[in-house]
Amino acid sequence: MASWSYSSMISFFIIMILPSFPSYCSRRFLDDNQPCPGHVDYSGSFPPSYFDTEDHHDRGDFENYLINPTARLLSFERRKLEQEDEGTAIVVLNVDDFGAKGNGKDDTEAFKNAWEKACSSKRTTVLVVPQKKYLVKPIKLEGPCKSNSLTIRIQGTIEASNKCSDYNEYGRHWLLFDSVQDLLIEGGGTLDGNGGVWWKRSCKIKKSHPCNNKAPTALTFYKCENLVVRDLKIQNAQQIQVSFQRCKKVGASSLTVTAPRHSPNTDGIHVTHTQDIQISNSVIGTGDDCISIVSGSQRVWITNITCGPGHGISIGSLGSRHSEAHVSDIIVDRVKFFETSNGVRIKTWQGGSGSAKNIEFLNIQMNNVHNPIIIDQNYGDQKNPCKEECSAVQVKDIFYENITGTSATKVAIKFNCSRRFKCEGVVLKDVDIRRHHEKNKAQALCENVKLTDIGFVAPLCPNAHKGRNNTRPSVQQPHHKKIRNPIN
Ligand SMILES: *[C@@H]1O[C@H](CO)[C@@H](O)[C@H](O)[C@H]1NC(C)=O
Ligand SMILES: *[C@@H]1O[C@H](CO)[C@@H](O)[C@H](O)[C@H]1NC(C)=O
Ligand SMILES: *[C@@H]1O[C@H](CO)[C@@H](O)[C@H](O)[C@H]1NC(C)=O
Ligand SMILES: *[C@@H]1O[C@H](CO)[C@@H](O)[C@H](O)[C@H]1NC(C)=O
Repeated sequence: MASWSYSSMISFFIIMILPSFPSYCSRRFLDDNQPCPGHVDYSGSFPPSYFDTEDHHDRGDFENYLINPTARLLSFERRKLEQEDEGTAIVVLNVDDFGAKGNGKDDTEAFKNAWEKACSSKRTTVLVVPQKKYLVKPIKLEGPCKSNSLTIRIQGTIEASNKCSDYNEYGRHWLLFDSVQDLLIEGGGTLDGNGGVWWKRSCKIKKSHPCNNKAPTALTFYKCENLVVRDLKIQNAQQIQVSFQRCKKVGASSLTVTAPRHSPNTDGIHVTHTQDIQISNSVIGTGDDCISIVSGSQRVWITNITCGPGHGISIGSLGSRHSEAHVSDIIVDRVKFFETSNGVRIKTWQGGSGSAKNIEFLNIQMNNVHNPIIIDQNYGDQKNPCKEECSAVQVKDIFYENITGTSATKVAIKFNCSRRFKCEGVVLKDVDIRRHHEKNKAQALCENVKLTDIGFVAPLCPNAHKGRNNTRPSVQQPHHKKIRNPIN
């Protein structure tokens, strides 16, 4: 694993509605249209307390940085004391000082005020959400903030309102961080989207309901840069649980992201138009993709994830509605899937354009997974299937290595590529997937794919050729320019 020279960050948030949140945000945003009646008057503010600036310890090893939060917290606490002794250092704010009660009544206003204060502090600032349960309506935490070192330490639980009328017509977001730089969110606490009321309205749950249920994303980071989100539980989102949109330089680690198996569209972590992001050391089990990566995302590094239940790790869907999509330099390493409907999937729509390329899937364990390895380049409208003239998102340089375990279905490997735009440079190296119930052998279905097998590969595609060990794409890892680390 490479070391990222890292650093960190912090600034913070606020509330407001994003008028017309851009439609590229995600397929779901495009799909959903039902306004949720009611108005929320967002004019955010939110306050924090003391910390101060200046710490620049360059962090040679980004991985240690992410993996060792406890040690870091301890050193952080120590440092805080030292700094307080000096009488200048760190501003620590507590939502309770802004009137939050944590007694089941609405704490939104207090959070807004606390954020406003934290975001306008020029010093190193920590905003604490203590160990109580706070009820918070949709809120926009907006930057840029004045501090270049802002931490939100969530120790308690923040619970979403379950009243549809609390979400206004732009209310596709519950907690929205907009344009915040140098932010760290941590603390071991819980964000609870309280999504049951939204799930019931979904046509996936009840066929008679309209399929345009505009349920909010629980936690959204929009245009954020130098962001670390770690050591949190996120659960029962209204729809997508965590979304990184148009962000740069993100570390997301030690997260537990859960929703029931049948909760509709509750993707765990959604990455769109985001560059240089690592998602690591997390456990994700939801009603949709554990992680979904869509257009405009480059240098995405996913390591040490447990996924299930859910739909697996998905690149795509890409190219819907004839759009152009570009996704590249993605590494998915050390993932365990448990009874998911897919394992590692690349999914593109007929009629799209652009490319999905330089993607590696390494060291993956499948446990009773329905489609362990799948590329579907023919995803599309069954009623209007595309014929030869259709364009496609090009799928190229895809490398699978050390993928083992069991398939719940007969077809363990499925490459369904378009006839005109074949999948190119696909390599399977040391792949061994068997049927979960040993009776029948697993199969591979391989259409229009230029495939190379290396080492032991099972099941085999009939048309693969034998390759040499060096047939591996060079995939770029995330770039992390040195930035200041506020808490070391
Ligand atoms: C992998 O992630 C789990 C949490 O899901 C953590 O307990 C474990 O220490 C991580 N392993 C490594 C090698 O970082
Ligand atoms: C293959 O992947 C498994 C995890 O599924 C890991 O434990 C093992 O060490 C990997 N093997 C090699 C040779 O890297
Ligand atoms: C490939 O996709 C096409 C179009 O969706 C579908 O008709 C076909 O059955 C698929 N092939 C396999 C092997 O699944
Ligand atoms: C490829 O590498 C494996 C070890 O990963 C080795 O056992 C095998 O001999 C190599 N094959 C070729 C053709 O170099």
